[in-house]
Amino acid sequence: MKNFLSVNDAGNINNLVKTALNFKKNPLASYALGKGKRMGLMFLNPSMRTRLSTQIAAQNLGMEVIVFNAGQDGWSLEFEEGAIMNGSTAEHVKDAAPILGKYFDILGVRTFPSLKNREEDYSEKIIQQFVKYSGIPIVSLESATVHPLQSLTDIITISERLPVKAKPKVVLTWAPHVKPLPQCVANSFSQWINAWGQTEFVIANPAGYDLDTNFTNGAVVTNDQAQALKDADFVYVKNWSSYKDYGKIIPVEDDWMLTKNKLAVTNNARVMHCLPVRRNVELSDEVLDSSNSLVTEEAGNRVWAAQAVLADILNGLL
Ligand code: CP
Repeated sequence: MKNFLSVNDAGNINNLVKTALNFKKNPLASYALGKGKRMGLMFLNPSMRTRLSTQIAAQNLGMEVIVFNAGQDGWSLEFEEGAIMNGSTAEHVKDAAPILGKYFDILGVRTFPSLKNREEDYSEKIIQQFVKYSGIPIVSLESATVHPLQSLTDIITISERLPVKAKPKVVLTWAPHVKPLPQCVANSFSQWINAWGQTEFVIANPAGYDLDTNFTNGAVVTNDQAQALKDADFVYVKNWSSYKDYGKIIPVEDDWMLTKNKLAVTNNARVMHCLPVRRNVELSDEVLDSSNSLVTEEAGNRVWAAQAVLADILNGLL
């Protein structure tokens, strides 16, 4: 692959999963692959898991890694074409990105959506400008609409626990939160699960929280959480703000937090969340601290997902 921006760059998902699980067994198997190569990890927004797991993955492949917290350490970037830069932004992406292209062989970029302008966010204007101006492979560390390294991780985690049945049931359920969050993780999870095509996939969310159908087409979407959870093998919990009333929190009357009681109707479902999680808001302590929870295992798999993707990109640079 040249860039890794969404499931559309992934090729055969099962091959990527297989590569990732091979790296999990033998992390340094391809240590020579990245020798003499340098990766930049540029964060315009906060991160713990993505930052550390991608750094470890690149180092396992023999690469040198430099992390740059652009939001704090760098000049504030301008992304508007033709901008008259007499305000707060100090450097245009079309000046900065080519320089990053000189310093690095691969660049990872994290950039969140504004949640103010849907059209602009959904055009992926920011990450696309790094693709356009850097001249090197770009890896999404989460962009305005998707989080592909997280989604590949989620499929790896499900694959490891796949029950022996024709179509295991996977439920993505909305959860409450105290602030408006992007739709990225939910969009991306939906897109990857649909493309993978190996599960029955149901999305449960309150009225007003339907995701963009470009990502969810192929899934059953319902406002009935209890019905959705029935016989589920995997329950993925995530908050997102409204897509329709873009970026807003629409008041919800019912209690959508996932609790142990609610899991009773599932097939002893494994519970997933990308983290960070707001305990006793999105998920109850009793679920997170139970043996049903896969969240730590899932976050651990972030390394192998990133390593599979970086190895594929490095192979293309040979
Ligand atoms: N899940 C995830 O992307 O975590 P971070 O925001 O800590 O990277």
